Amino acid sequence: MSEHRQILLVSGPNLDLLGEREPAIYGSETLADHVARAAKEAERHDLALRHVQSNHEGELIEAIHDARGWAVAIIINAGAFTHTSWALHDALAAFDPPVVELHLSNPAAREPFRHTSVIAPVADGVIAGFGGLGYSLAVEAVARLLEASS
Ligand code: DQA
Repeated sequence: MSEHRQILLVSGPNLDLLGEREPAIYGSETLADHVARAAKEAERHDLALRHVQSNHEGELIEAIHDARGWAVAIIINAGAFTHTSWALHDALAAFDPPVVELHLSNPAAREPFRHTSVIAPVADGVIAGFGGLGYSLAVEAVARLLEASS
C-alpha cells in the first residue's frame, strides 16, 4: 500500500464552536463536517489529511513546527489569530512547502480589524468567503501547487 502524502489542516481559536457560533456568518456545519469534506477531497487527489484545532497560539505553533518533519503542505484557518499573530506568521515562514490561508467568511468585507492578515504574506494564496466549499477548494489548490512543483 502506498503511503499517502499528508497535508496538515490547522484550525485556530473558536472554530471548535462552528455550527453554534454566529451561524449567520459561519453557517450551520460543524468543524468536523468541514474536516470530513477536506479529507474526502484530499483522498480524491491521493493525499491524506491530518487536522489540529486549538484555542491556544502556542499549540498551533508547535503543530506547525512538527509539520516541518512530515507535511507536504499546510492549510490554515487561524481564526482571529489571522489578524494578530506574528508568532504564527514566523512559524509558517519557517515551513517551506505550500501554505494556503483559508476562511469561511470573507474578512475583507467585514469589520476593519479583519482586513489585515499577518498570515497572507507567508501564504501561497488565500481562499475566503466560500463557506464550507473553501475546505475542498483549499485542498484542490494544494494538489495543484504540488503537481506544478513535481
Ligand atoms: C474566520 C475569520 C476571522 O476573522 C474570524 O476571527 C474567525 C473565522 C473565518 O473562517 O471566516 O474566527 O477565520
